[in-house]
Amino acid sequence: MSGAVLAERPAAPPLDQALHARVLALRDGLLHGLIGADIMVERLLIGLLTGGHLLIEGAPGLAKTRAVKRLSDGLDGSFARIQCTPDLMPADLTGTTVWRQDAGDFEFLPGPLFHSLVLVDEVNRAPPKVQSALLEAMAEGQITVSGHTHGLPDPFMVVATQNPIEHAGTFPLPEAQLDRFLLHVVVEMPDEAAERRILDLVEGELNHHAEAMPVKLSVAEIRAAREAALAVYVAPALKDYLVRLVAGTRTDSAAPDLRAAIEHPASPRGTLALMLAGKARAYLRGRDHVVPEDIADLAADALAHRIGLTWRAAAEGRTARGIIRDLVQRVRAL
Ligand SMILES: Nc1ncnc2c1ncn2[C@@H]1O[C@H](COP(=O)(O)OP(=O)(O)O)[C@@H](O)[C@H]1O
Ligand SMILES: [Mg+2]
Repeated sequence: MSGAVLAERPAAPPLDQALHARVLALRDGLLHGLIGADIMVERLLIGLLTGGHLLIEGAPGLAKTRAVKRLSDGLDGSFARIQCTPDLMPADLTGTTVWRQDAGDFEFLPGPLFHSLVLVDEVNRAPPKVQSALLEAMAEGQITVSGHTHGLPDPFMVVATQNPIEHAGTFPLPEAQLDRFLLHVVVEMPDEAAERRILDLVEGELNHHAEAMPVKLSVAEIRAAREAALAVYVAPALKDYLVRLVAGTRTDSAAPDLRAAIEHPASPRGTLALMLAGKARAYLRGRDHVVPEDIADLAADALAHRIGLTWRAAAEGRTARGIIRDLVQRVRAL
């Protein structure tokens, strides 16, 4: 099948070049202060463009916090950071209702979740009740405190970070809650060349001022960029590919040996997440249509956290990411 088939479609609105340039300026500003972090940066922007939430996993000191702070510098919305600890309570995130003696009424004091960009650092150190309050807010865009429902801002994006090393006092996120994250991004250690550049960059920042972000996207621009990303075309043949890929986690259709390693397959929420993320990736690359590479590149980040392996597969040292990557190798794209 030719590339033309992927792009052929009914008349589409032309790309707003000025807006696209602003989004790319945001990306370049992020990349400028985050050495060798191309994947993390792209994923953050995909989250922003789809309205999806991100889980970023990596060892301490890999610039996860820095990346989200930098993103907040490039956005004209409010930002909050929540540092998770085992004694955190749901109300510390959601806010509380207090009695106002003078007014003779209850007043709701919103918690840190009521911001456009919320960094939830070390989410696996928060106790389960806090995690479930967080994930409910992420899923519903609203919070219910003392019987009253409060809408969260729009845009509302959560970036949660977690440490892969299992310390005492961590609470791994339950699988059903992991499903609420659009993407699960894994950050790796930098190579020597990148590490060398990090030294120069941070030394420069310590001596002078850190370079400010070149743009600040307004809420209206974020909404418009979201609409543009959503309008990116997905050819019918590519939707078939998406379905074939996810079906490979459920049935023996594609790779029976890989399927056999999977205890819980990915749900349609996973298929949708992969399609939407693929659209945003295409938009970032200036395309008006998705290509198979968009899907293949994002499959592990969109699907691996939504599947559960059998105990046997886990005992054999297989990982969900590895299984999804193998599946991508084995499922034909077109
Ligand atoms: N890839 C990178 N680019 C720029 N600075 C980095 C990078 N990796 C680490 N650093 C620096 O290392 C420190 C730790 O970053 P931080 O965001 O606090 O890490 P994390 O949140 O992942 O634990 C910061 O001073 C940051 O500037
Ligand atoms: Mg951190």
